[in-house]
Amino acid sequence: MAVSTISPRVEEPAKRPPVNSRRQAMAAGCKVAILGFGTVGKAVAQVLCNAPIPGIRLAFVFNRNFERKRVSWVPEDVEWTDDLRQVLASDADVVVELAGGIEPAKEWVEQALLAGKSVVTANKHLMAVHGLELLQLARHTGQRILYGASVAGGVPVLNALEQGLAGDRLVKFAGVLNGTCNYILSNMESHGTPFAAALAKVQKLGFAEADPSDDVNGVDASCKLAILARVGLQADIQPESVYRQSIRGIDPIDFEYAHQLGCTIRQVSMAEIKGKTLRAAVQPMLVPFSSALSRTKDNQNALIVTGEHGGETVFSGRGAGGGPTAVAVVSDLLALAQNSQLTPARPLHSYRVSGNFSLRYLVRVRLRNQSDSISTIKQELSRNGVEIGSVLRKPKRSKGNSDVAVLTKACRPADMVTAIRDMRQLPGVRQAPVYLPILPN
Ligand code: HSE
Repeated sequence: MAVSTISPRVEEPAKRPPVNSRRQAMAAGCKVAILGFGTVGKAVAQVLCNAPIPGIRLAFVFNRNFERKRVSWVPEDVEWTDDLRQVLASDADVVVELAGGIEPAKEWVEQALLAGKSVVTANKHLMAVHGLELLQLARHTGQRILYGASVAGGVPVLNALEQGLAGDRLVKFAGVLNGTCNYILSNMESHGTPFAAALAKVQKLGFAEADPSDDVNGVDASCKLAILARVGLQADIQPESVYRQSIRGIDPIDFEYAHQLGCTIRQVSMAEIKGKTLRAAVQPMLVPFSSALSRTKDNQNALIVTGEHGGETVFSGRGAGGGPTAVAVVSDLLALAQNSQLTPARPLHSYRVSGNFSLRYLVRVRLRNQSDSISTIKQELSRNGVEIGSVLRKPKRSKGNSDVAVLTKACRPADMVTAIRDMRQLPGVRQAPVYLPILPN
């Protein structure tokens, strides 16, 4: 498929607000309206209210039923409202959208831009799916939309891609981009916490999405990967085209097998340009201890960016939660207030998107009883074109159960998925086998 340049949709110019006078007003003090007073909205308000930030002032908090949200530490001159029209008609300069999800957030962002306000958002879902059209609308209305908080929370990776690394030709990302999955997996590893208990805890901490399946099934990370691909690889992809595999089904015992191979387990997001194809996947993987991704704990994120000229650059820090995300939001507000210019956007290209990374896998199968043999598993794998490299030692803790684990040679994910599906049908197999590819060094 040909690599084509996406040409922006050109529309009749809307009535442009007086940009220069607005910028002058912003320089005098940027008035901020927060839409959504949840974990992140509250944290942004705390940063803005605790110690005044020169040039930025919280002016509005918009939330449905705001009376139940009202807090005493927000100064009295801040207006609370559940009427968006009041915010749009006001002299607020910037709308900070922190409601999340596609609708009504998309409509709010559009209305804010059309009302002559710039927008700061942490909404990865919105920016992954509708980012191009919203950026175009922002240009059209003479406003800006900044979304540094949408990927990796407090770690300024989007800024780095747009500025510090803009001089390179980036070709690959490998990252831990979801704090919830990282919390679950690193707690499983350090404390043997079962999946359900770790998930309940991370929900209480406020890191998880409203529907935590979006975290564990890779939807959240695929949105972040799509944004990274657009900003860093100039690749126009939609999150649903990214190959995804859930972390559900991973058991603390899998870490013991992983350790035998000098690895831990993390949810890894990968994107790589190979000719006219963009390979993209979000899945739990065995991560060698030598990789920076293996050192992420709790809600941390990490990203390894590979460029043709500069080689590998690593970013890491807190990727989820009110505080870190608020830092990214307020940094974007400061960038708007200072009117700092970003590097001009490069043209985007379309690629065929594929999850076809040829990788080695750890496969763990729970058999009905110890007498069931490993040979049927070998047969099932090889019938689907997957060859076994070695059989792993049974960890001490698992002496009582009837698990067997093998390391395969490199194979295609489609072959592995078919082999696993077939294996699940075998009478001797007790539950869906776990299969984890190894992140190449
Ligand atoms: N649920 C997301 C995560 C929030 O856990 O990473 C931050 O994007």
